[in-house]
Amino acid sequence: MDPKPVRYSAINDQTSLVFPNDLNTYGTLFGGKVLELGDWICCIVAKRHSNKVCVTLGLDSVRFLAPATSGDILVLKAALNRAWNTSMEVGLKVFAQDFRTLEMKHIFSAYFTFVALDENRKPTKIPEVIPETDEEKRRYEEAEKRRKKRLEEL
Ligand SMILES: CC(C)(COP(=O)(O)OP(=O)(O)OC[C@H]1O[C@@H](n2cnc3c(N)ncnc32)[C@H](O)[C@@H]1OP(=O)(O)O)[C@@H](O)C(=O)NCCC(=O)NCCS
Repeated sequence: MDPKPVRYSAINDQTSLVFPNDLNTYGTLFGGKVLELGDWICCIVAKRHSNKVCVTLGLDSVRFLAPATSGDILVLKAALNRAWNTSMEVGLKVFAQDFRTLEMKHIFSAYFTFVALDENRKPTKIPEVIPETDEEKRRYEEAEKRRKKRLEEL
């Protein structure tokens, strides 16, 4: 199983649009909508890397940093931070872009953990990931510490 670079599966600028029916009762983007969009694109990253069916095992470090509103463009960025034996950590950042000024505001961050499954729905081996840039290397190292904490908390 050949290792793959982070860029093989990364998604750098998936866009979406905030519609009126995506808002909470305060008129800002509903958090559940961001989680749904995020789960979708992070799952695509995991599937591209592993070429397997992947299920979400969990998410953590969830931060809603700023609100977005109707008409904003959402820009989602997701990349594989690290792959282990059968599991992977995907980092997600979401930005709200004002369509008038194109100014980008960081509104959400989280880490998603996925497990790759075989045809019997059992966890199955996945390729390693190769971090290339300084940022990818930093995320790769930090992901190991986060995984350790997650497993300690079980
Ligand atoms: C995900 C699932 C298949 C894992 O099954 P399991 O029997 O617990 O599998 P394992 O104990 O072999 O663990 C699988 C991997 O998850 C990792 N893992 C388990 N708990 C973890 C945790 N809390 N944090 C991080 N990784 C964890 C294990 O270390 C292992 O990774 P590794 O092989 O890379 O070391 C199972 O829990 C499941 O089906 N959950 C439901 C998934 C789902 O329906 N998601 C929503 C829809 S997509």
